[in-house]
Amino acid sequence: PPVITATVPMAHLSKLMEFAAASSNTRVIGSAGFTATVSYLQAQLAGLGWTTTVQNFTVRGKKAANVVAEWPYGDAGHVVMAGAHSDSVAAGPGINDDGSGVAALLANAAAITQSNLRPAKRIRFGFWGAEEQGDVGSSYYVSHLAGGEAAKIDAYLNFDMVGNKVENGKAVGWSLYAEGQSNGLNAPFQSYFAAQGITVNPSLDTDDRSDHAAFKNAGVDVTGVSSVRSLNELGACYHKACDNLTDVDQNSMVLASNAIANAVWSLAG
Ligand code: PHE
Ligand code: ZN
Ligand code: ZN
Ligand code: ZN
Repeated sequence: PPVITATVPMAHLSKLMEFAAASSNTRVIGSAGFTATVSYLQAQLAGLGWTTTVQNFTVRGKKAANVVAEWPYGDAGHVVMAGAHSDSVAAGPGINDDGSGVAALLANAAAITQSNLRPAKRIRFGFWGAEEQGDVGSSYYVSHLAGGEAAKIDAYLNFDMVGNKVENGKAVGWSLYAEGQSNGLNAPFQSYFAAQGITVNPSLDTDDRSDHAAFKNAGVDVTGVSSVRSLNELGACYHKACDNLTDVDQNSMVLASNAIANAVWSLAG
């Protein structure tokens, strides 16, 4: 794949921060910041030539939505899927959690379009709403799949918090989900990070606290990447007002974006 530079994901993060700034510093479901995020995703992905669907749902009276986008080439019977959550908590703008995953995926969509990739398998990205209410959007998507559609998803890769920075002199804690050790999905990520001279923890226990859980429960092979060491060390600004652009490290965004590119290109063939 082509190398993704910092400017692309950082420009997306600046947009997400603008949406939050115009919405009392939040992109929580039901807010203008969330609605603007969904519109932005829809416009960006459609503009890149991806087949894009907005799936609306409500959570305790609040409007939420998923954006699902597919690169319309490759065998639709074998899907490589990747996802991140588009919402934040009420307390903050959610730039690392999980603007970082969203921005890294948008950068990947652009790289695929610009390369005019013709993969063997179908590539589909999901941008989930209401993760912060308990993985609601991803669960909604999986439970509303038509019969047989879950079985066509060969892999689901989750990206939640991939922009952590050095804190208190402690290096970023790159981790791969424990689930990916047994199904082989960690391998392409491990080879990418090894080539960068970075040691990763290959067995992050996420306690199902993100959007891979619904896919795993439906029998899909899953894994994910995060720049956190463990769920006890999520960063000083986790779920706080200060989860803004200064809470994200540009180099982490570069590493995450290119790790995704290497894995998606290798898994999709
Ligand atoms: N971002 C999750 C949350 O929204 C926490 C989490 C981080 C889960 C990394 C899995 C991996 O609370
Ligand atoms: Zn298959
Ligand atoms: Zn969160
Ligand atoms: Zn999150």
